Amino acid sequence: MKIEAVLTPAELPALARRDLRGAACVVFDVLRATSTFVTALHNGANAVIPAAEISEALAIRKKRPEVLLAGERDGVKIRAAQTGGTDFDLGNSPREFTPEFVRGRTIVSTTTNGTRALRAGSGAQTVLAGSFLNLGATAEFIRRLQPAELLLVCAGTRENKADEDVLAAGALCKILAGGSSRRDDRTAQRAVPTQLSDSAEIALLAWVQAKSDLAAAVRNAENARRLLAFPELRDDVAFCLQRDVFPLVALMDADGAIRRQ
Ligand code: MLT
Repeated sequence: MKIEAVLTPAELPALARRDLRGAACVVFDVLRATSTFVTALHNGANAVIPAAEISEALAIRKKRPEVLLAGERDGVKIRAAQTGGTDFDLGNSPREFTPEFVRGRTIVSTTTNGTRALRAGSGAQTVLAGSFLNLGATAEFIRRLQPAELLLVCAGTRENKADEDVLAAGALCKILAGGSSRRDDRTAQRAVPTQLSDSAEIALLAWVQAKSDLAAAVRNAENARRLLAFPELRDDVAFCLQRDVFPLVALMDADGAIRRQ
């Protein structure tokens, strides 16, 4: 399996133009879009539809009035002033997506980077929303699928690389590659034969360095700092860094909606 990491949002337009039909793609927006989608699916949402723009989310709501509208701009819930009159039902905090709110519902979400990254990778044969919350289940799915090419797409923050996304990509490389990557490791028991690109190797090295104290490694990242500054959002950071609390695979179906596998 060839593993490549897309480390910055600047690479997304080129990714969207690439022929990805033979590839699997895992998109990470740890803070917070993909963590939030995984939480919503764990809590019983039927599907999450990623919309690139607010206007696209509103157009879906017009056709399907039963959907919940979710998302953020600058980290906070989208309000009527930004939409021409419609307050969104939810922001992008995973802790808002409770079973009471989302069970049985379809959610249309537009976020700054996460939904953009999912859309850029959507040409791949298999597209997954990845996070620390469901990392083990995602790795197991990839291990069984054994795609020839695996792309780890880091959604980033605004136009920049986001440490938390690169670390999650590195953690997935570590699980898959074990000792068979270019790095020595003793956890190779169930490793898949892998060939890491330089970018995937960067992500793996970052993870190896940070894994003993993930919270400390992420605390100073741009989006973590922004979230930590909002009293009502600060707990999202610790929430999204939990490992393997939701053992589910979040798979994008042919209709573009992400569902629990
Ligand atoms: C994004 O898509 O850019 C993020 O998820 C932003 C956030 O929720 O703070």
